[in-house]
Amino acid sequence: MVDIRSLISLLSDGQFHSGSDLGRELGVSRTAIWKSLDRLEELGLSPESIKGKGYRLKHALDLLEEQEILDALTSDCQGRVALEVLLSVDSTNQYVLNKGGLESEYHFVVAERQLSGRGRRGRAWVSPFGSNLYLSAGFDLFGGVEALAGLSLVVGIAVVRSIKACTHLDVQLKWPNDVWLDGKKIAGILVELTGEATTSWRVVVGVGVNIGMTNEEAKAIDQPWAAIGESLNCSRSQYAATLISELANVLDRFKRDGLDAFMAEWESLDLLAGESIEVSGINISGVACGIDESGALLVDTGEGVVPVNAGEVSVRPNAS
Ligand code: BTN
Repeated sequence: MVDIRSLISLLSDGQFHSGSDLGRELGVSRTAIWKSLDRLEELGLSPESIKGKGYRLKHALDLLEEQEILDALTSDCQGRVALEVLLSVDSTNQYVLNKGGLESEYHFVVAERQLSGRGRRGRAWVSPFGSNLYLSAGFDLFGGVEALAGLSLVVGIAVVRSIKACTHLDVQLKWPNDVWLDGKKIAGILVELTGEATTSWRVVVGVGVNIGMTNEEAKAIDQPWAAIGESLNCSRSQYAATLISELANVLDRFKRDGLDAFMAEWESLDLLAGESIEVSGINISGVACGIDESGALLVDTGEGVVPVNAGEVSVRPNAS
C-alpha cells in the first residue's frame, strides 16, 4: 500500500520522477505507484505522466508539515495545543465538532483540502488541495451566552495579526469577521457551537485563508476574492504556526478580559467605519460607526444609532 502523503511529498517539487524511483523511495513496486495515481486524481492533483520521464504534478506544492508547525509555535503555546494535519476532510469544523473530549486546551486541525468546506450564511468555502489554509480550533468556553459576545470579532483580530506578521499586506476587518484586502475578501471565519447555553460551550472556530489559490480553482466563488500569493514571507507551515499562536494568544485574553480588551485594535482595523452601508435582510442603512461592547455593528441611520447583531453588510456604491 502506497503512503499517499509520502508520495505527494516526493512529487511536491514539481519535477518528473520515474515510477521505479518513486517505488524505491517508498518501498513498493512501480505498479503500486501507477495504481495509486487514481488517489492523487481524487485529491484534485491530476499528475502528468510522460513515458520515459515519469510523473509530475502541475505545479510544486508547499505541503503542511506537522513537526514544522509544532516547532514554530510560540513558547507559551507549546504543550497547550494539540494538532492534527489532514490530507483531506469534509470540513475541518465538522471534524472538530465530531470530536468528544479534547485532550488539550486547544485542539487545532489543519487540512490540505476540504470536500465540503463551510462558509457563513450557508455558503460553501472553496478549498482546493495544497493552496490555501483551512484551520479549525476546538476549545471549551465556560459561562452563559454573554461569554460569547464578540468572540468571532476577536478571532478576526488574530487572523489579521497573523497575515501582517507573515506578509506586508495591509488587511482590514469587515464586520463581523471578514478579512479584506483592497476591496476583496482574503480570509473568512466561521464560529460554530455546541453545548448548553447556561454553563459551557464547545466552540469550534474555523478559519479559511486564501494563500495560493489559482483563478481556475476559485471560479466557483461569487464575490471578489484575494489571496496572499507571493507576499507570504515564510512556508505555509510557518504561517499556520503563526496563526495558531495568535489564535491561542487572543483566545486566552478573550477568556480572561472579553471583547473590551480588543476594542481599540478592532477600531483600528475597521473597514466600514464612516462608510455608508446597507444591511441586507433587515433593511437598515446609514453610516457605520464602530461596534458596541457586545460586538454589534453600530449604524447611524440619521434618526439614531442602531445596533445590528446579524446580517450581510454592503457598502453603498455611490454614497460618499
Ligand atoms: C466565511 O464564509 O467567511 C467563513 C469561511 C470559513 C471557512 C473555514 S475553512 C476551515 C473551516 N472549516 C470549514 O468548513 N469552514 C471553515
